Amino acid sequence: MTPFPPIFFPPPLGFPAVIMQTAVLLLLMGIVELSIGQRYSQFQWLSHLRGRRRHAGWQADSVDCPLECDCPPAYPTAMYCHSRNLQHVPYVPSHIKYVYLQRNQLTGIQDGVFDNATNLVWVVLFHNQLNSDKIGKNVFSKLKNLDRLFLDHNELTRVPPNLPKGITDLRLGHNKISKILSSSFEGMTNLTSLHLQANDLEDVGGVFKGLKSLTMLDMRKNKLQKVPDNLPERVHQLYLEFNSIASVPSGFLSVHPKLQFFRLAHNKLTDKGLPSSVFNISTLVELDLSFNKLERIPVVSRNLENLYLQANKIKEFSLSSFCSTVDMTNFSKLKMLRLDANQISAKDIPAEAAYCLRRVAFIDV
Ligand SMILES: *[C@@H]1O[C@H](CO)[C@@H](O)[C@H](O)[C@H]1NC(C)=O
Ligand SMILES: *[C@@H]1O[C@H](CO)[C@@H](O)[C@H](O)[C@H]1NC(C)=O
Ligand SMILES: *[C@@H]1O[C@H](CO)[C@@H](O)[C@H](O)[C@H]1NC(C)=O
Ligand SMILES: *[C@@H]1O[C@H](CO)[C@@H](O)[C@H](O)[C@H]1NC(C)=O
Repeated sequence: MTPFPPIFFPPPLGFPAVIMQTAVLLLLMGIVELSIGQRYSQFQWLSHLRGRRRHAGWQADSVDCPLECDCPPAYPTAMYCHSRNLQHVPYVPSHIKYVYLQRNQLTGIQDGVFDNATNLVWVVLFHNQLNSDKIGKNVFSKLKNLDRLFLDHNELTRVPPNLPKGITDLRLGHNKISKILSSSFEGMTNLTSLHLQANDLEDVGGVFKGLKSLTMLDMRKNKLQKVPDNLPERVHQLYLEFNSIASVPSGFLSVHPKLQFFRLAHNKLTDKGLPSSVFNISTLVELDLSFNKLERIPVVSRNLENLYLQANKIKEFSLSSFCSTVDMTNFSKLKMLRLDANQISAKDIPAEAAYCLRRVAFIDV
């Protein structure tokens, strides 16, 4: 079994003691700082690496590791190249499965760079300056085993073309994507988690339609004016905060009976945009409607556990939104109810609320 490599930092454990000693010695001599990258010009950085390899006797391992990167023997399939001002993706040897290239100055990736690295499972490229026009058409297309691709915090205006179909986790958040082609996610039947937050998307059409395994869709901070159409049936987390959505289509949740976490905070929802009972679906666990323009509390299922309605314009406390009848066995499972920053106060909550909302410890008004 290959040890599972840590994501963000080279492993301190298992790092050969001799290297640590060398580093400590150099530190004591005031020659280098441990925080590599920023303060080095490319040349200094390379010469530092060369020196280190020589001192540490890394010859055996460095044969198949680019000079710019670290390939610690404890993680034989991982290659660490993050935070070192790289402007080009180094050569990735074919035995590497995990490549960490985050926090560099990469603006593009040429076709062919990963062609020999067909064992790659994770490619981590967040916090670079990747520009869609500088990414080759087939950069990723041969990576049949690719499972996770992290491209968040770049300057992408498009989803890279010809992504491998087997990806399960695709992160494209914090880019400048304004349009998604209908072919972008075609055939990605194993994609479970799709991050598109903080882009410029206004309308996505039906691009998610074939994503049979998708369970989590994050589209916070875009410019959506409506809830995306044709969402796959399995989605159970849907994050749409900070958009311009004014309504939820009637029957939306009956079409998506698997939805458990639905977040619509910071949108433009009004009572008119919410058909009656649109949220009365027994599978829903969390509903966030805070920071909208609602005047009434929408009807919710008794099974709902968390309801966020703060910062709306709610004027009355309607117990019937939670319980149509109240008795020993029928009551709401709600645990968290926030109603602060509305136009009601504690005295607007009727005494019977205690029977219906018996699991709510404290109503924030
Ligand atoms: C890919 O691997 C082959 C065979 O090991 C080698 O000849 C070739 O130079 C490699 N390609 C790149 C881009 O390094
Ligand atoms: C999805 O995963 C299954 C099981 O790991 C695999 O057999 C199948 O080929 C994958 N589908 C795609 C499109 O890669
Ligand atoms: C919500 O749905 C349940 C189950 O379908 C139903 O019994 C209940 O009357 C509905 N609540 C309201 C207020 O429509
Ligand atoms: C409420 O409880 C009564 C009996 O206590 C039961 O017949 C009825 O189905 C329950 N209603 C709901 C909506 O659960």
